[in-house]
Amino acid sequence: MNPSVNAKPTRHDVADETSSRPALLLDWYDRHRRRLPWRPLPGHSAEPYRVWLSEIMLQQTGVKTVGPYFEKFVARWPDVASLASASLDDVLRMWAGLGYYSRARNLHACAVAVVREHGSVFPNTEEGLRSLPGVGPYTAAAIAAIAFGRRTMPVDGNIERVISRLFAVEQPLPQSKPLIRQFATTLLEEEQVGDERPRAGDEKSRAGHVNSRAGDSAQALMDLGASICTPRKPACALCPLNDDCVSRARGNQETFPRKTPKKAGELRRGAAFVVTRGNEMLVRTRAPKGLLGGMVEVPNSSWLAAQDDTSALQQAPELNGVARWRRKTGVVTHVFTHFPLELVVYTARVSAGARAPRGMRWAPISTLADEALPNLMRKVIAHGLG
Ligand code: ADE
Repeated sequence: MNPSVNAKPTRHDVADETSSRPALLLDWYDRHRRRLPWRPLPGHSAEPYRVWLSEIMLQQTGVKTVGPYFEKFVARWPDVASLASASLDDVLRMWAGLGYYSRARNLHACAVAVVREHGSVFPNTEEGLRSLPGVGPYTAAAIAAIAFGRRTMPVDGNIERVISRLFAVEQPLPQSKPLIRQFATTLLEEEQVGDERPRAGDEKSRAGHVNSRAGDSAQALMDLGASICTPRKPACALCPLNDDCVSRARGNQETFPRKTPKKAGELRRGAAFVVTRGNEMLVRTRAPKGLLGGMVEVPNSSWLAAQDDTSALQQAPELNGVARWRRKTGVVTHVFTHFPLELVVYTARVSAGARAPRGMRWAPISTLADEALPNLMRKVIAHGLG
């Protein structure tokens, strides 16, 4: 029989009916885990620095995109001390293209905090981890489980889908988050007596490691969600938990997770100005805080709902009246977390002697790829030069 649906997981559910699930899940993981650059080889313990770095990158970005960025970062900054001594500008430059740039600023601040306040050693508890910049409850749980074997379950979108199907959670997200977390925790192995001590003879276990397989259980659920329990057409026949899956028994897997519809942010509009002087382009650096803080951009207008093109064009940079603006056909669109954006792009060429307005500079077009340009600005420049 299946566990009661939409009730709290009870000891009965956990001990009698679902007790083999954690083992089935780990067994599946041992055979089918994804090989990802931040995961240690089986039997080796994870390095907290690599786990932390990957979890920050994975906060709002998919595994495929993160892979090459992770490799670049660890090649250049192999440990937390080297990252802490890098300049924020260099970190932002390396992060360019990954989006959500406050993550890069927090990454750097966190590295500095770990070095200065924790002797270059990451705290090994969820609570300690949460005190670090950029580390919220999810990331703290992920690092605590994966790097330190703490018995806790980080619940990401993949895990929400797997769990809400397995237990047919009728309550919609985000309200169902606490219930889903409770159910997800039942997929961790029971606490082993003696968990707190390193395994005898295991030279790979490090101080602070608890040696549970919580991190593997969490990553098994992530992998299951990514490869089998997919949003559409889940491959239930291949799932190690299919025998017990409530929604599968009912044939309505794809309807989970239930969701409260999100209100879309209002469309904002503006203009961007691609100005060239020979082989150079006019750029500026955004204020350090806020949206895209510290990143490089071409001059652009304010972004306002219902802004018309004329008022956006009036905000063009002052170039001693020499610029003749040409409007490119089409628009560049970008979706931020809270609003979609539509930019019209104007171009102008200025003569060799033209000076950059205050707060702006001329950057060689050939080295723009090395600047901390967010994807939005890469799209704007490609549109303007296209
Ligand atoms: N998403 C967030 N953390 C992850 C991890 N450790 N493995 C795969 N996907 C993830």
